[in-house]
Amino acid sequence: MGSGAMFDRIARRYDRLNFINSLGLDRGWRRRAIASLRLESGHRLLDLATGTGDLLIEAGHRGVELSGLDPSKEMLGLAREKLARAGVEARLVEGIAEDLPFGASSFDRVSMAFGIRNVPDRARALAEMGRVLAPGGRVAILELAEPEGGLLSAAARLHVEHVVPLVGRLLSCGEAYRYLRSSIAAFPRAAEFDALLSAAGFVTDPPLRLGLGACVLFGGTKA
Ligand SMILES: C[S@@+](CC[C@H](N)C(=O)[O-])C[C@H]1O[C@@H](n2cnc3c(N)ncnc32)[C@H](O)[C@@H]1O
Repeated sequence: MGSGAMFDRIARRYDRLNFINSLGLDRGWRRRAIASLRLESGHRLLDLATGTGDLLIEAGHRGVELSGLDPSKEMLGLAREKLARAGVEARLVEGIAEDLPFGASSFDRVSMAFGIRNVPDRARALAEMGRVLAPGGRVAILELAEPEGGLLSAAARLHVEHVVPLVGRLLSCGEAYRYLRSSIAAFPRAAEFDALLSAAGFVTDPPLRLGLGACVLFGGTKA
């Protein structure tokens, strides 16, 4: 089963779970990602793993041409409704990050929030981001992480390891949240993922830890 099918099943509960599990910080994290993209009017932005469209909504009303891609029909359906309510226009496309249905240099900016963890072949997805970006284009990737040390990060780890699975069980999303926990644990450390981004041809920004290290913002410019 692809993770697109699992997200189809949890789509209607996704936003609530996300909000609870990130202690409501997820919106601020998406805003940081958008700020790091330095969007300008006329830019073409592609948001991968767009889910229910939250990142597109945050990027709306700036004269940017918005596109979102996701393999889950259910998530895209909800994105369509939410974008309409927010008065944000975006083209929504069904697909996976490893095989983008767009030509070379079709975008100026690419984003992906909490999606790269779900992609089995990350190097291929990063190469695809590089292919569809115009030279000088920027990428922003947000991902949940296991905090890597320090006293405060122990609190964040406690949250990720105990509170998140409990909330998942209470809201009967056990399968999705067992997956969430194991996929966070399996995600490479920030320095390692940053090296993958460099290997894909990006001049990277230093990874930025957010939420006591529970989230990392990766960024780079296509060389
Ligand atoms: C945790 S949600 C993130 C949604 C949204 N970006 C956000 O900020 O809330 C992960 C999304 O990744 C999508 N996904 C799963 N496999 C994918 C793939 N191979 N390529 C692109 N997206 C994928 C899922 O359908 C789901 O909507």
